[in-house]
Amino acid sequence: MSALTDDNIRQFNHEGYLVFEGLLDDRRNERIKRDVDRLMEDRKVPNKPAIPMRYPELGLLTSEPAIVDRVASLMGGDRFVHHHIHAVCHMPGEPGVAWHHDYEQLPQTNRSHLMVHVFMYHSGLNGEIGDLLVLPGSHKKTMSRDAFQQFGTADLPGSRTIDNLSPASVVIVHSALQHARRAKPADPGSKRYFVDTSYCQFGIIWPTIRQFQHYNDMALELGWDRNGKYAFLYEEGHFFFKEDQEGAFESRNRGSVAMQL
Ligand SMILES: [Fe+2]
Repeated sequence: MSALTDDNIRQFNHEGYLVFEGLLDDRRNERIKRDVDRLMEDRKVPNKPAIPMRYPELGLLTSEPAIVDRVASLMGGDRFVHHHIHAVCHMPGEPGVAWHHDYEQLPQTNRSHLMVHVFMYHSGLNGEIGDLLVLPGSHKKTMSRDAFQQFGTADLPGSRTIDNLSPASVVIVHSALQHARRAKPADPGSKRYFVDTSYCQFGIIWPTIRQFQHYNDMALELGWDRNGKYAFLYEEGHFFFKEDQEGAFESRNRGSVAMQL
């Protein structure tokens, strides 16, 4: 049975994102926040590797059924690979992030396969520290990641501000959707927990960095595949490593790519 309705899928295809408020249960959500707190503390320790995939609640988040099954509905089945997990706790004064998208492609030429990012707001959003801005429909246009960067975090025609979400809310975005984080004032002591994971549809070789493949190998070693049910998420063979290709790409990227195929 699909984890999403046909209306959900139509809305995602049209607007490029779906919001699920309070998707994770409270106790689980609190455990995830504690893992993020530990991660933030570990990051302050020199030479201590602080890798989200190593923390049990964060590692398991990469194969969280409530999320992965929804992603499967968007992908048309369980044929997609986990790209990365990032985790952070933003404090008052955290700077914003200008308009951009995160669809991995070198160069940006088409949207033949689906990549999604899953934005998780474990303490919700309340208009403090940082709002999420999205530009619905922008995922349908092929453009460079920084195409709208000059607009900073200003409202754009048709853009939406998401600043009111309950704890444990999840926003699944098409990775090519233009989005931004607008810095907002906040009371001292406010926190904005933010985890994001990302998934790429099977069928093409996606850009990544070598480190992310290591983290997927780690996920299998640590059992985050939930007894094999979600082993497909960490399968090898779906990535190339940007660090190996960028030099050659820069020298060969001349004129129309079509003439080099
Ligand atoms: Fe982003």
